[in-house]
Amino acid sequence: MTPPRKRSPPTAQLRRENADPDESVKPLPWFLVMSLGAMAMWGAFYIYATPSGIESAYGDQRTVATLRPPEKTAPGAAPAVDGKQLFGAKCAACHQASGLGVAGVFPPLAASEWVLGDEKILTHILLHGVVGEMQVRGNTYNGAMPAWNSLSDDELAAVLTYIRSDWGNQAPPILTGTVKAQREATESRTEPYQGGKELAAGP
Ligand code: HEC
Repeated sequence: MTPPRKRSPPTAQLRRENADPDESVKPLPWFLVMSLGAMAMWGAFYIYATPSGIESAYGDQRTVATLRPPEKTAPGAAPAVDGKQLFGAKCAACHQASGLGVAGVFPPLAASEWVLGDEKILTHILLHGVVGEMQVRGNTYNGAMPAWNSLSDDELAAVLTYIRSDWGNQAPPILTGTVKAQREATESRTEPYQGGKELAAGP
């Protein structure tokens, strides 16, 4: 048996060396884990609790008309809203920028007897919408025209005045006051008009 080797005392060279690096176990701080968990739970809850599929109350609901500084126009005067721009944003998807609609689905506004005709009935169409059969330029349509009562009197007057004056249409403008009066006159209506017959029958 060989006797155990005697350890030599650390030399000056050994003493001057640093210890070998070692990887110590460092778990994530608990408060970080907890706050990440809390954020994830809040996120899940937020998605769960946020209504979707119904009319959204989120996002910027303002229209250009709301953002514009109030203008000093006499009550009942022609509106200062850009009707063409509104038409492009709200109506052209169905009735097309050409005002010609889509055959058999969306009726034309160009040369339409409804657009050029009685201003009250035209205003009613926009305020409450129409479902069911209506004749436009000799063709029968049976679609659903949405109600636009969320637009202001100014905006409705502007878009109506626009559709009465483009694509060769020539009918007098519709004033803000007219829209206001018809909105009040048909205030109790909650349903869209049931086609052309009911429209012609009045509010
Ligand atoms: C989702 C598609 C859609 C949009 C958007 C729409 N409409 Fe209509 N509109 C229709 C349909 C469909 C009819 C026919 C309703 C029926 O058959 O009962 C109609 C009918 C009309 C009529 C009467 C018929 C005619 O051709 O003259 C007018 C006027 C009218 N829309 C104007 C507008 C204006 C102005 C806007 C924008 C503020 C607008 N519509 C937006 C689908 C739409």
